[in-house]
Amino acid sequence: MNKLQGKVAIITGGASGLGEVTAHHFAAHGARAIVIADVQDEKGQKVAVEVGSNICTYVHCDVRDEEQVKNLVEFTVKSYGCLDIMFSNAGIGRATHTCDQTALDMDLSAYDKLMAVNVRGMAACVKHAGKAMVEGHVRGSIVCTASVAASVGSEKFADYIMSKHAVLGLVRCASLKLGAYGIRVNCVSPGAVGTPLLKDMLEYENEEEDKVVGSNQYLKGEVLRPKNVADAVVFLASEDSEFITGHNLAVDGGCKT
Ligand SMILES: NC(=O)c1ccc[n+]([C@@H]2O[C@H](COP(=O)([O-])OP(=O)(O)OC[C@H]3O[C@@H](n4cnc5c(N)ncnc54)[C@H](O)[C@@H]3O)[C@@H](O)[C@H]2O)c1
Repeated sequence: MNKLQGKVAIITGGASGLGEVTAHHFAAHGARAIVIADVQDEKGQKVAVEVGSNICTYVHCDVRDEEQVKNLVEFTVKSYGCLDIMFSNAGIGRATHTCDQTALDMDLSAYDKLMAVNVRGMAACVKHAGKAMVEGHVRGSIVCTASVAASVGSEKFADYIMSKHAVLGLVRCASLKLGAYGIRVNCVSPGAVGTPLLKDMLEYENEEEDKVVGSNQYLKGEVLRPKNVADAVVFLASEDSEFITGHNLAVDGGCKT
């Protein structure tokens, strides 16, 4: 434990799912300050209280809006003196429920909406976190949430899959640029995890169905849980991975493609 002793972290999409569980993990590992950024204000505030009001703060931030991302990073640095870790994780699975988003049937306004969160938002978070780390002479760690969808194709959800391929490209480019300053940039690529995002994408509610969704993996025994992803994020955020950058860490139990 205490792999993140004294660190200051931002988690986007921290009000729910993987971000929420990672906030608890960061606290358990000794982070000094955790700023949760999300658009679900009530949930985000609740998570901040559950993690501990002494170390965790909720800030409303729509990652589609660069100014809000800039303000989020400035607030963090002003309040806690620096930024050590950016977990850029906010994302949506779909922006339409009426179109399958295949190559032949693509609602392009839904495509734009999804890209605005999953790609533009991710780029804004990496940009402003990177700048703050450079200016503060912090050898920080930026971790983005990609997906197994970053490395495979599928007929449906083409816009989501394209967005996650773009996250991989962003991580590779940013790791080259920021490496000069000792800042590491990596991504974590989860397989299917039963969060609200996945349940909305695949239209299921029952916890039991997590097992069916998770059956597409070679590693048998358990289904993938948010905790497994949070463990990988702590690894990438901590000095345990001090010589790892530009890496795409799959957390998928050996996903069958
Ligand atoms: N659940 C999975 O199976 C899975 C697999 C691979 C990757 N991912 C990725 O993990 C990340 C987290 O998703 P999750 O599964 O925890 O889902 P989730 O829906 O539980 O959490 C996503 C969070 O992002 C927030 N968000 C959405 N749009 C936002 C915006 N414009 N600005 C700020 N916050 C915004 C949501 O309010 C929500 O709290 C996403 O990037 C997702 O693509 C999920």
